[in-house]
Amino acid sequence: MRLFTAIDLPPDVRSRFDDLIGELRPLARINWSPASNLHITTKFIGEWPEARLPELQKALEGVAMREIPIAVRGLGFFPNRRSPRVFRAGVDAPPELSALARNTDSALAKLGIEPESRAYSPHLTLARIKAPKGLAPFYEKVEELGDPEFGSFLAERFSLYHSKPGRAGSVYTKLFGFPQTSQGLSP
Ligand code: 2AM
Repeated sequence: MRLFTAIDLPPDVRSRFDDLIGELRPLARINWSPASNLHITTKFIGEWPEARLPELQKALEGVAMREIPIAVRGLGFFPNRRSPRVFRAGVDAPPELSALARNTDSALAKLGIEPESRAYSPHLTLARIKAPKGLAPFYEKVEELGDPEFGSFLAERFSLYHSKPGRAGSVYTKLFGFPQTSQGLSP
């Protein structure tokens, strides 16, 4: 199973991205993320055997998380505008968010999951760009939009997601939320 951990978006923020993507999609033939797929990745896990899911769950239960205020604003490109691979929205958060990413990384490193070597750069991937051609109208529109605000929220939990490749891009399914509720497993 291909897995990752991420923070989910509240419906109002998601709906603003749904509108934005609807507006921009006709301007660029790039691989748009469906708004339902948007999330803030905290740790990419990669392939993990399904039979060992309980071990992973246990390790993630041990990752402490307090509420983190998150503001989603701004648009940009990774690694940069001149050779764009990813069209992204920005995420502003206090150091607790990178601490969550770091703590998840260390907890999972104990299970043999490769630790992250790059600095944590929280974002939302709105589209992936394979061939940056014919994108002038799209760039113009992005410029015109400036530094939009997509909303703020308090993140109280993170989730373990399963990523399954599909014809129209990857399909993400939430497996468990953390911290888990007293009832045991929670979606
Ligand atoms: P991205 O959207 O910035 O590419 C599922 O693939 C999630 O894990 C995505 O949000 C993706 O981030 C993230 N991720 C981080 N490192 C990855 C990697 N090496 N391969 C695939 N996805 C990765």
